[in-house]
Amino acid sequence: MAILNFVFLGPPGAGKGTQAEIIAKKHGLVKISTGDILREAVKNGTELGKLADGYMKRGELVPDEIMLGLIEEQLANIDKGFILDGFPRTVKQAEGLDELLQKKHLPLKAVILLDVPDEEIIKRLSARRVCPNCGAVYNLLYNPPKNDEICDVCGTKLVQRKDDNPETIKRRLDVYHEQTAPLIDYYQAKGLLVKVDGTGKPEQITEAIEEVIFK
Ligand code: AP5
Repeated sequence: MAILNFVFLGPPGAGKGTQAEIIAKKHGLVKISTGDILREAVKNGTELGKLADGYMKRGELVPDEIMLGLIEEQLANIDKGFILDGFPRTVKQAEGLDELLQKKHLPLKAVILLDVPDEEIIKRLSARRVCPNCGAVYNLLYNPPKNDEICDVCGTKLVQRKDDNPETIKRRLDVYHEQTAPLIDYYQAKGLLVKVDGTGKPEQITEAIEEVIFK
């Protein structure tokens, strides 16, 4: 059976979530977004949510042990190819993931790095709006809703993510460069890294990723 397990890597706002959603739907893969899981936990006031909330508000990473436990749970009964969106984010998480995938005989096919410059990230994240009801993601500059800040899908008033303010965006970018960017060399050394230009139209980026998936 073809191996269709991927990691989507890249700075905040690179389009990991947007592309993971499209590709997972189109190709019958499971999207595992650690950011979405944590936000849901915060919304529901669970133990995990209470723990993660402060880190997320500050734009910092939730501790590795917690994230590794969360991913182990997510992969416990997986029976399809998967896309990890936003995990791993530190070398320790990547090493833990390697161990887990080896134990489960689930090799990665590729790690897709969505490459987007910082200036573009700041523009995109400042203009992102999300639907608090159905989770649809918009962008006031690039992909606006049809009616002023109202969700096209379910008609709910859109909101801005708590961490999409200028100060936290800057912190998230710093954290990315310090703690997550070392994964580029880590996966390059394993022959898994494929860099995709994350600027341009989302459809073009999807096509570029699909070329990797079906290579
Ligand atoms: P998470 O939710 O993963 O945030 P992130 O990595 O900062 O990524 P984003 O969701 O902001 O961006 P994205 O790349 O998915 O872009 P999107 O497609 O939305 O994590 C949030 C927090 O949770 C972290 O800060 C941390 O605290 C914690 N956390 C999560 N995982 C963790 C882990 N493994 N370890 C520790 N802590 C963890 O697109 C962004 C915007 O751009 C949207 O408006 C979209 O419409 C628009 N857009 C998308 N593509 C394009 C395009 N091609 N052109 C123009 N606009 C576009």
